[in-house]
Amino acid sequence: MDKLRIQGPCRLEGTTVVAGAKNAALPALAACLLTEATVTLTRVPAVRDLWTMRKLLEHLGVNCSSSSGALELRHITPSEIDDAPYDLVKTMRASVLVLGPLVARLGHARVSLPGGCAIGVRPIDQHLAGLEALGADVTLEHGYVTARTPPSASGAGRLRGARFRFSFPTVGGTENVLMAATLARGTTVLENCACEPEIRDLGLLLTKMGARISGAGTATIEIEGVDSLSGAEHSILPDRIEAGTYLIGAAMTAGRVTATDTVAADLAPLLEQLAECGCAVDCSASTITVERSGGLQPRNIVTAPHPGFPTDLQAQYLALMTQAAGTSAVCETVFENRFQHVPELRRMGAEIEVAGNLARVTGPTQLTGARVMATDLRASACLVLAALAAHGESIIDRIYHLDRGYESMELKLQQLGAASCVERIESFQDERPKQ
Ligand code: UD1
Repeated sequence: MDKLRIQGPCRLEGTTVVAGAKNAALPALAACLLTEATVTLTRVPAVRDLWTMRKLLEHLGVNCSSSSGALELRHITPSEIDDAPYDLVKTMRASVLVLGPLVARLGHARVSLPGGCAIGVRPIDQHLAGLEALGADVTLEHGYVTARTPPSASGAGRLRGARFRFSFPTVGGTENVLMAATLARGTTVLENCACEPEIRDLGLLLTKMGARISGAGTATIEIEGVDSLSGAEHSILPDRIEAGTYLIGAAMTAGRVTATDTVAADLAPLLEQLAECGCAVDCSASTITVERSGGLQPRNIVTAPHPGFPTDLQAQYLALMTQAAGTSAVCETVFENRFQHVPELRRMGAEIEVAGNLARVTGPTQLTGARVMATDLRASACLVLAALAAHGESIIDRIYHLDRGYESMELKLQQLGAASCVERIESFQDERPKQ
């Protein structure tokens, strides 16, 4: 398994071009199952989760081809293949996003239950309740969920529009049910939806495909079902979590980073926090610059669904607070088990106490390099940032987690001035510390 070797401390300075958002690209790929026409996506990030989704779509009969930076997807004829097998779903929970589109278009779908993961139990009960509200018959058997539309005289029938209220604003659940409702008969009103920018982006794509949607990206989405959808071209919105990670990196290493091709408004909860911590934050239409020249003030955060502080930046922010002068509290409310980076940060010298969903960080700490283990995607990014600020060498193991969601992170860090500090050790290479 590949590792990252980081020789700290290293100050990040320069400009980074933000990639397309993994979390917007995943549902956009799944949306191609709603039509037999070609869906062309640009700015699809080159990350492992997207390869997994592409493999799953190919298994489902989608023709996927890439040319000049665009990904073309075509689900030519609805095949009988309606199953997302365990081997693909277990490596990526977002595979469950094919459930809504498949049942809406084919009338039947069989998708492996994803199970829990490192950051929590993560059930999909809300996805299923939403599809049931649209008339799907949902059963769970042998680790698979099967969904069927009610039969009609001519075979599999269609889903029917309904009013449904999510018990929690789930991102994946909102996306799954939204996609399914585009092809339902009649009007659907979804309430208490997740409001993440990635849902707004999915709404834009679906609208280009001919769906009738209002309110995607707000708490209430109304969808008037149509008989069929057409193809479309769409550029995936920028990855706010990737941008946020490098901007926190600037604050962490007392550096200066400009993220280009991004949307500052989507990162407001982080940028406000960084400004309050003492960083200079400067935004233009599509760029954000963060610079730290002095000390950092501790500031508390509570993660929450958008527009709250994103849980996907909690680990990186927690690493930053080890550099602030005083004690800060980081409260995680979205996932129940998302402090696995804490024991690893402690091994680098961080002072952090965890009680339930609350972490108290006391700084500033001069972190020291250590051999640490990445446990999930964002925890890996947090360890990379900590290693950049630490004195000495760190080896970050299991960075396949990082590759799931960050496009060539070591290259981007090298471009930000860390050329002599960051190196990927491929699994076949010798990993002894350099002399
Ligand atoms: C998405 C993001 C992930 C991010 C998360 C929260 C993608 C591919 N992933 O994940 O990076 O961390 O949003 O912003 O977009 N829940 C239920 N029942 C359900 C669905 C969810 O109880 O049916 C719970 C989950 O266990 C979790 C919480 O709701 O505690 C949030 O989950 P959700 O918003 O669905 O996250 P994902 O879509 O899995």
